[in-house]
Amino acid sequence: MFTSSPAANDFAHPIWVKSNTQRTKLLIKVLNQLYGSSSKSILDVGAGDFSIAEAICKLGHNVLALEPRAKEANLPASNFRTYKSDVDSYLSNAGENIRFDIVMMLGLLYHLERPQETLRRVSAISDSVVIIDSVVLDHDGDAIVYLEEDREIAGHSVNGLGCRPSFKWLINKMRANGFEYYYDLSGHLKDIRSDGLSTGHLYNWKCERTCGWRRNEMQLRKFIVFSRAQINI
Ligand SMILES: C[S@@+](CC[C@H](N)C(=O)[O-])C[C@H]1O[C@@H](n2cnc3c(N)ncnc32)[C@H](O)[C@@H]1O
Repeated sequence: MFTSSPAANDFAHPIWVKSNTQRTKLLIKVLNQLYGSSSKSILDVGAGDFSIAEAICKLGHNVLALEPRAKEANLPASNFRTYKSDVDSYLSNAGENIRFDIVMMLGLLYHLERPQETLRRVSAISDSVVIIDSVVLDHDGDAIVYLEEDREIAGHSVNGLGCRPSFKWLINKMRANGFEYYYDLSGHLKDIRSDGLSTGHLYNWKCERTCGWRRNEMQLRKFIVFSRAQINI
């Protein structure tokens, strides 16, 4: 139980705790199914409180967790590293030979100023799979809107500029980046209701073409695995 009053984007807030718990479970299932006990290199971009990255690392994978607002991670493990950086600065400084088997962008895409460019660069360093969990637009065409965010809120865009892409926009951009196959796993996640103060997470929804990204105070979200080759999930 928490005693302070965490805001919507505080990772101690019950909505994020629930979300982290169920997304972590799903990720563990997906990684076990795809890779079994073979150890992979994983980049977690915008890693928040590191709880998901830490859980993944406990499976034996080598994890690098990037977070511009990084606090101390709890896990002293040789296969777990953290780095305080936003994604674009990291990619600019990382050098040409940096590669990962898997890149995870959970709750990050919609906080980016130049999502298409960042997706292109992230895709270029991923050898097999990019996993994206994002708020999306209620639009069945290829569309994106840009907006300002309050950068003082932990969890939001670091420079105050964000976006809301449609699912189709995302699929089209990832296909152009060489990720031909996508697996929409949103149906494996339960909806998390708004508590009246904070926005909930809605994974099971049908497009109504409202062009918004909220319904009954819940964010419309998708959890998708993008792959260069056909995979079994
Ligand atoms: C909504 S939180 C999601 C955290 C975590 N990945 C999760 O799903 O629980 C978004 C995170 O991305 C970070 N972030 C915001 N802008 C970023 C950027 N340009 N590059 C990397 N991380 C960023 C924020 O500091 C925040 O921790």
